[in-house]
Amino acid sequence: MVKDGHFHGGHNSGVSTLIQRTELFSSLKNAWYPVSLSKELKRGQQRKVQLLDTHWLLFRTESGRPGITSRYCCHLGTDLSNGRVVGDNIECPMHGWQFDTHGNCTHIPCGAPIPNGAQQFSLQLTERFGIIFVWYGDKPEFDFPEMSDLSTNLKTSPPITVSLQAPYYVAALNSFDTQHYEKIHARRFVSPPDISLVNPYCLRIDYTAEIIRRRWVDKIMTKLCGDTTSVAIESWSGGILLLKNMDTHYGSLIGVHPSSETHCELYIVALKDREVRQTLTNSLAEYLALRLAAVFLKTYLAPDLGIIANMQPHKGILLDGVDDALQTFFDYWKALPQKSPFRLRENRKVA
Ligand code: FES
Ligand SMILES: [Fe+2]
Repeated sequence: MVKDGHFHGGHNSGVSTLIQRTELFSSLKNAWYPVSLSKELKRGQQRKVQLLDTHWLLFRTESGRPGITSRYCCHLGTDLSNGRVVGDNIECPMHGWQFDTHGNCTHIPCGAPIPNGAQQFSLQLTERFGIIFVWYGDKPEFDFPEMSDLSTNLKTSPPITVSLQAPYYVAALNSFDTQHYEKIHARRFVSPPDISLVNPYCLRIDYTAEIIRRRWVDKIMTKLCGDTTSVAIESWSGGILLLKNMDTHYGSLIGVHPSSETHCELYIVALKDREVRQTLTNSLAEYLALRLAAVFLKTYLAPDLGIIANMQPHKGILLDGVDDALQTFFDYWKALPQKSPFRLRENRKVA
């Protein structure tokens, strides 16, 4: 139907679906995203990083400080990934201009004065739990998230990574898809889950569910928690998911790296409040338990991974009641800021 010069498709038509998909998921939300394991970026090394369709160069200075700048040189656009780290700078291979971790040009070998505007666009980053995270956007709009139910005195497992053949936003969306919990994860809610907007960036789901024993992980969970389990999951602008199991007091962080429009990489870390008194024996037991918890979470998520592959999420036909959490998720997602960082266009892929 054409009205007011615009096409208005039926509620569930293919066209309206396409419009909703484009509007909802067209570009990257401003958020913290993992970009590399710390151990994969040693001093003096660099690596290419893609965030959706934008291209970056991540490097670690010889003194150990990480930095991330636009990948193409502000002089003539040479690919800096062919350059090298020199001291505290990344050096362009073409004419040798050097840039520090903030992207500032610090040296031009031909002796000309450094011109105004000789700067690579850079992103802010932080290193946590053995993972490098960047803030996609001009300036962080929220601090690196911490889950209110866990103390800041955390013990963590080494991170593990899982590749997912699906767009990055599937990870957050999946957490609020309450219909799939029973079919895919063997969790039957004992009462409707509680959905709350903690702040404009953080949507949270709290639920208590009966564990329907199907797989070995479910059997272990019933040994640990009994027949029901209470869980909270927070989405922080889709780049970080925080989970807390209220029965075991273990939590986890899942960082979602949007490696392309069709693929993402999950960085999983198990977390636990640190015991006040630490002995060598309980430290070792805790370390092993945390490693196991990370593997356990990966196994719990495994049934999702195959099904999610090639998914093209959109806001389709939602059921009243059972899909209310999804409706809230779509409203939250639509309202999230997605301002492109300054000069970002320079980093976009040339078709
Ligand atoms: S193109 Fe990079 S220094 Fe000239
Ligand atoms: Fe799931």
